[in-house]
Amino acid sequence: MAETHSTETRPIRSFVIHPDLGDRRGQRRAPDLALEEAVGLARALPAIEVVGATVAKLRNPSPGMLFSSGKLAELGAEIAAVDTELVLIDGPVTPVQQRNLEKEWDVKILDRTGLILEIFADRARTREGVLQVELAALSYQRTRLVRAWTHLERQRGGFGFVGGPGETQIEADRRAIDDQMIRLRRQLERVVRTRTLHRAARAKVPYPIVALVGYTNAGKSTLFNRLTGAEVMAADMLFATLDPTMRAIHLPSADGEAKGRRIILSDTVGFISDLPHELVAAFRATLEEVLEADLILHVRDISHPETEEQAADVGDILDSLGVDEDVALIEVWNKIDALSPDTRAALRRTDARRADVQAVSALTGEGLPDLIAAIDARLAEVLDEPRRPGEVLVPHADGRRRAWLHDAGVVEREEPAEDGQRLRVLWTDRQRIAFEALDGARADAADEDDAAEQRTPGGWDPLAND
Ligand code: GTP
Repeated sequence: MAETHSTETRPIRSFVIHPDLGDRRGQRRAPDLALEEAVGLARALPAIEVVGATVAKLRNPSPGMLFSSGKLAELGAEIAAVDTELVLIDGPVTPVQQRNLEKEWDVKILDRTGLILEIFADRARTREGVLQVELAALSYQRTRLVRAWTHLERQRGGFGFVGGPGETQIEADRRAIDDQMIRLRRQLERVVRTRTLHRAARAKVPYPIVALVGYTNAGKSTLFNRLTGAEVMAADMLFATLDPTMRAIHLPSADGEAKGRRIILSDTVGFISDLPHELVAAFRATLEEVLEADLILHVRDISHPETEEQAADVGDILDSLGVDEDVALIEVWNKIDALSPDTRAALRRTDARRADVQAVSALTGEGLPDLIAAIDARLAEVLDEPRRPGEVLVPHADGRRRAWLHDAGVVEREEPAEDGQRLRVLWTDRQRIAFEALDGARADAADEDDAAEQRTPGGWDPLAND
């Protein structure tokens, strides 16, 4: 991603506090894991260096200071000891609490909403996404007595929330914010109006869209890079008219002269539990592609202790976004390399039983050929391609390929043969190709056309001497 002039600014020394409210607020997460997540979110911002982190019990939040006086002093000492400029509080902090804590500890304070806003601002790619994030940021900032976050500040360089102007500025700032919000709303209306046009234009792109969604840190970007990288894909081309987080690629399951299926792979911003409600519209806007996807890949960090809770969160948000229940979805169980051999073997067994699950490691590449085959097969179903009859002989020793055929739902009849099982199948060309690609026989087949695309124009050879 293009980094803008942030290289000279040194990272801001930051301390992360996760307020543990006990069970009162229906917190589902273990506090230490919640803290870990908050630290992960903070680390997602290049401008931040996390120098310390702690869980702080918070049974009765004080309206003025948030923490009790004893806790305040204790945390103050911890913060001072590591020379912190910014304290990130992983929960809501009122403007009054923010101002008081800033005075008390002599630091800048950013709460969870502010932090997530920063991340969204960093990640928003579509015009609508950028506008929605700016709007949410302005309305958040407007309620702050002290400038906690501002996009406008960025124009003067540096990170918005550190070193805002004094309070005398605030009234003027509020007016400026209101004006800016009116302008943004107007722009947003225009964007939404033209979006229908863009949709129509995108509909002309003759490739199916595959969208990666998942909890923050699940490994979406790593998988996206893997799948769009030269090692796995036959071609990797930025589709000029689309978002930078979308790429048109060939699945490598090419059949003889024909190229593999072309798809558009689309990466999205990570899901986060307890998304502050004022950010839902901004988050929705960054997820627009998901609603248009032909296939959703739900990437899960299967090695995370709370992987089930995370998956439930993602499911809830997909529902609330209006993603159709019947939409084709593959669960990608990522990070299997981080599991013990036993757990891994158990997962592989589930993977072999369930057509909608693929266990992979985006890091090592394990399981990716099967994932690609599954993507291909599911798309064939979704796009309702014509099916042709065929016959396959699967040797006894090859239970996996047989399971694949059953998972794909292509088996018509099955009978024992001399050295294995004879299966009568009804499948699309793509499914056949995906199946044949399973044993890796074609994995290294060169793609004529792609090789031609990579050749330099006019036969000029940069290494040749004239
Ligand atoms: P967000 O941008 O927060 O939504 O995260 P993401 O889902 O895009 O995750 P990302 O690809 O940035 O990966 C998060 C972390 O997990 C990185 O440190 C990766 O190196 C690591 N990671 C990704 N895939 C794997 C994997 O298969 N195995 C292991 N062990 N680590 C992985």
